Amino acid sequence: MKLPSTAGPIGIFDSGYGGLTILHGIRQLLPEYDYLYLGDNARAPYGPRSFDVVYEFTRQAVLRLFEMGCHLVVLGCNTASAKALRTIQQVDLPQWDADRRVLGIIRPTAEVIGSLTQSRHVGVLATEGTIKSESYNLEIHKLHPDLTVSGVACPFWVPLVEYNEADSPGADYFVKKRIDQIMRLDPQIDTIILGCTHYPLLMPKILKYLPSGVRVVPQGEYVADSLKHYLQRHTDLDSLCSKGATVHYLTTENPQKFKEQAQIFLHEPVEVENITLG
Ligand code: DGL
Repeated sequence: MKLPSTAGPIGIFDSGYGGLTILHGIRQLLPEYDYLYLGDNARAPYGPRSFDVVYEFTRQAVLRLFEMGCHLVVLGCNTASAKALRTIQQVDLPQWDADRRVLGIIRPTAEVIGSLTQSRHVGVLATEGTIKSESYNLEIHKLHPDLTVSGVACPFWVPLVEYNEADSPGADYFVKKRIDQIMRLDPQIDTIILGCTHYPLLMPKILKYLPSGVRVVPQGEYVADSLKHYLQRHTDLDSLCSKGATVHYLTTENPQKFKEQAQIFLHEPVEVENITLG
């Protein structure tokens, strides 16, 4: 396969808007790079979709970002990281171009959790797909075998954010329900991973219902830190990531809609283009 060989932006992919919280964290730490964000809004949410479907959609998106000049793509989506990352790395990358890279966001989060918890009991709140995949349990136990990990799926949280209802009184019911559930499952939890990129938008309500003393891990910050170190270790790849401090946005849905919704996540105006995948 012939892909562009000149330096290009870092690709950030998500099923929709959630990856914007990851992009935000990355840009805070690495503002000098160019970024190309792709939200597959027309096919979101990915959370309830099967392994095969999430893999196929993610594969199409990553390939498109490579075709558009990216040499490195970050899956800014836990569901895609849980269900598609490994197969893309092992099966697709060697066929497309073995020098390109795709990174997920579960591993960097799993890495830091061991140094954040005192009680050694941690919780994961995520989409149904991420919880069912057991990816967080597996990654955390590989690195920190002594940790007790409890996970709870929060099926209504993504639509609450996508439909701009995160601050509405109705959201309280759904947030409290899942917080109570995870704390009942293991009252010794002292650290919670928000294992879905949409969930930081529900932070005020999450903090309202969490017992005091339980800390919430801000995923964007740790993913950014891990990416920074990755680029420092991989200087060849780093030289293929262009540095013009620009950000471009692509959506598979209506660009105007993306523009309006993206402001909830970014608090800045964005220029958006429509593309079709599949
Ligand atoms: N952004 C996705 C994640 O981090 C969740 C959204 C979806 O279900 O598509 O898991």
